[in-house]
Amino acid sequence: MGFPENFIWGAATASYQIEGAAYEDGKGLSIWDVFCKRPGAVFEGHSGDVACDHYHRFREDVALMKELGIKAYRLSISWPRVLPEGTGAINEKGMRFYEELADELLKAGITPYVTLFHWDYPYALYKRGGWLNPESPLWFEEYVRKIAGRLGGKIRHFFTFNEPQCFIGLGFNGKEHAPNLSCSNQDLLQMAHNVLLAHGRAVKALREVIPGCLVGYAPTGTSYYPATEKPEDIEAARKAIFSPDRDNWPFGIAWWSDPVLLGRYPEEGIRSMGEDMPSVAPGDLELISQPLDFYGQNIYNSRPVESDGKGGFRVVPFPAGYPRTCIDWPVTPESLYWLPKFLYERYKTPIVITENGMSCHDVVSLDGKVHDPNRIDFIHRYLRYLRRAVEDGVDVRGYFHWSFMDNFEWCRGYDERFGLVHVDYTTQKRTPKDSFYDYREIIRSNGETL
Ligand code: FCB
Repeated sequence: MGFPENFIWGAATASYQIEGAAYEDGKGLSIWDVFCKRPGAVFEGHSGDVACDHYHRFREDVALMKELGIKAYRLSISWPRVLPEGTGAINEKGMRFYEELADELLKAGITPYVTLFHWDYPYALYKRGGWLNPESPLWFEEYVRKIAGRLGGKIRHFFTFNEPQCFIGLGFNGKEHAPNLSCSNQDLLQMAHNVLLAHGRAVKALREVIPGCLVGYAPTGTSYYPATEKPEDIEAARKAIFSPDRDNWPFGIAWWSDPVLLGRYPEEGIRSMGEDMPSVAPGDLELISQPLDFYGQNIYNSRPVESDGKGGFRVVPFPAGYPRTCIDWPVTPESLYWLPKFLYERYKTPIVITENGMSCHDVVSLDGKVHDPNRIDFIHRYLRYLRRAVEDGVDVRGYFHWSFMDNFEWCRGYDERFGLVHVDYTTQKRTPKDSFYDYREIIRSNGETL
């Protein structure tokens, strides 16, 4: 049976990771511009100041996308590039960049899928309290209305937020991301609530301004798969994925997705938060749970679990020498079967894999090519499991490979290479890797070569 005829084969990137031009054409500062300058914050002091210089080279990059044959390209918009103060006046040059990029993609026959927020938060708004400020959902709505008003004629597919787990959970929970604050659980929960309200407002605004547009969400979260296919282990994995508690909720799935898709916070989580729970005003959850056209999920790996025999679960350790990617994430292709299946069962919304891919130590070889057999193997393994999900009746609409090209990997700087296209950051030369040509065949054959 395989993948449906209209399956969306795509690739993804994000603004701060590829654009560069951090101080050009009136762009405002983002929290990542500021964070990267902090000594020790990012591997070897790297920053996205220049990155892949995509801001100037986007035509060359779109030509490569066309050669790759992707049907859709997931990009994100830099909020401070279009609204330097976060609200108020539009920076015309910044907006023009996205208009021209959209035109170029459409000309190449590639559908743009826009993520409205992929972490480069306007520094001006951060100084006003950022996501902790009760006005923050309104700021986001204003930005989204402006984007929709200007780009709605060219762009009809949107994701609101990329991985709130990371920009809240890793940014404000003493972890490694900008702005690297350590907030109380109460403040984290309040920020999360404001982000969810912002999501709801954005979905409503998009639908008002661009009738007929398609809107999704792109979270991530710790996930699990059953160590065996015994019913009790499958139940254990389901339980492990969706039970939020006080300690793991920022990186979990249910806290961020139940309100959006089911219109409620998970009961078990509410109980464990106690007095830290934010106040939820009447109408908040209706606003947050606007119907979505698809549910995006970024999926890289998961852990095997088994039943503990008492209705709970136990994580099963990986055997010695288990395969890992360069960024040290385990290779668990099962993730692309079990997680879409569990998500579809729970949320009953078509699934899009918004990110999946691997970091390798890719080099340009003496023959001028980039041989990345590990990535090819990774893609095949994962996509075979995704195909199994499709064949089992999970409504999977698309797959966006992370990433189209090597780029700035947040606090790991340029040390990690996730691309199908190799980027030499000294010369900005692009070299399609072997995986580029292999993925092209997967796309051309609609998955028959897997
Ligand atoms: C995800 C991010 C993306 C990229 C990949 C490797 O968490 O959304 O920007 O960094 O990981």
